[in-house]
Amino acid sequence: PRPILLTRHGESQDNVRGRIGGDTAVSETGQLYAKKLANFVGKRLKSERAASIWTSTLQRTILTASPLVGFPKIQWRALDEINAGACDGMTYEEIKKNMPEEYEARKKDKLRYRYPRGESYLDVIQRLEPVIIELERQRAPVVVISHQAVLRALYAYFADRPLKEIPHIEVPLHTIIEIQMGVSGVQEKRYKLMD
Ligand code: F6P
Repeated sequence: PRPILLTRHGESQDNVRGRIGGDTAVSETGQLYAKKLANFVGKRLKSERAASIWTSTLQRTILTASPLVGFPKIQWRALDEINAGACDGMTYEEIKKNMPEEYEARKKDKLRYRYPRGESYLDVIQRLEPVIIELERQRAPVVVISHQAVLRALYAYFADRPLKEIPHIEVPLHTIIEIQMGVSGVQEKRYKLMD
């Protein structure tokens, strides 16, 4: 069986400020996670040949991958975070205050709700299809460094979780979700590298 390791990027400047979307760098805490991740992956995949690292095109995932040397890296636009459109860069509080109808609509149906000029979870799930096909084809391990909404969708695919649960799946920062694809099905382990 070959493992697929799923992780969010290390904490970003926007995570610290509670702002969604954006393309900020990682914080000092995020940098520390990047080092711990590199250490973990180095040990975990030491004997695995041809493992690769897949990131989004956003800074915070590329920076999180940077201490991971010696592995080929691929950037996928399809791994970018859900596009929050008109709400990009806002906090949830700001959305609630300035665009209350949008806030309520999302709360009512988070799976189908599409941000103005942005995406819905269903849109994200759809654009992940080529990534999933490629992940299924890989024989070697893959480390996927991406974002909360995207990883909820990817995880749900491998863990066979129902569509309606996807927007609510717990995918915390600084935690690696290891998926093992074997003959007897899928196994999962979680490693929390930082508090
Ligand atoms: O807050 C981090 C983040 O990745 C945002 O960039 C993104 O909009 C959000 O999480 C997705 O989570 P939710 O769908 O719960 O708002």
